Amino acid sequence: MRKQIVAGNWKMNNNLQETKELINDIAAHLPQTNTKVMVAPTFVYLQHAVAAAKDSPIEIIAQNMHFAAQGAYTGEISSTMLQDIGVQTVILGHSERRAYFGEDASLLRTKVDRALEVNMQIVFCFGEELEDRKAGNHFDVVQEQLSDALFHLGEKAWEQIVLAYEPVWAIGTGETASGAQAQEMHAFVRNTLEQQYNGQLAASTSILYGGSVKPNNAADLFSNPDVDGGLIGGAALKAEDFIAIIKAI
Ligand code: 13P
Repeated sequence: MRKQIVAGNWKMNNNLQETKELINDIAAHLPQTNTKVMVAPTFVYLQHAVAAAKDSPIEIIAQNMHFAAQGAYTGEISSTMLQDIGVQTVILGHSERRAYFGEDASLLRTKVDRALEVNMQIVFCFGEELEDRKAGNHFDVVQEQLSDALFHLGEKAWEQIVLAYEPVWAIGTGETASGAQAQEMHAFVRNTLEQQYNGQLAASTSILYGGSVKPNNAADLFSNPDVDGGLIGGAALKAEDFIAIIKAI
């Protein structure tokens, strides 16, 4: 059956000391839980983060990676470099990468393929913008994002993929999707997976919700049958809030 997951995407936040302290703080207060806990610090501190999380169940994951194994790509980080320092999971397709760094479907497809080639796990983000939702196009947009980047994959590859629905209008805005809106989209995605693949694959794929998840709305979001956890931005930067969100599952 699918896993429940709470992942913290720290984005471009926290210095080295804060990185170590926050991981130690989260580790010290983690409840006994079957929920998988992941934290994604910035690239430069990943190795320190892996060391800090070593004796805890926290998995340190990357926020991005390049599509090539190596080569003349100034400023980039490869999958093998991440694996070399003990990172086995990568976030791909985050809306900030799509919006500010021009990551489109065809690029994301190459990154997905690369990660799978070296047997990494992927947290794949997707979600509509406000204008899509206002126009009633949100289901079409989501279906296209998934189809363009992921539907070329065989069934087996899906064992390595976690989906994260992050409506762009809810990221960092304080405006979260309601539990009902999240459930509606997650059920749509699961149904789409069933059509494209099969019911077993659809039922065993974890679908996280992300976008202004806070301690006071986490339980409402997570109580829905197709919401398998969260991808947390701002509230993942405070141990107390992140722990409260983990406890809300
Ligand atoms: P916020 O929780 O700050 O809205 O960010 C969500 C997010 O983008 C996680 O990847």
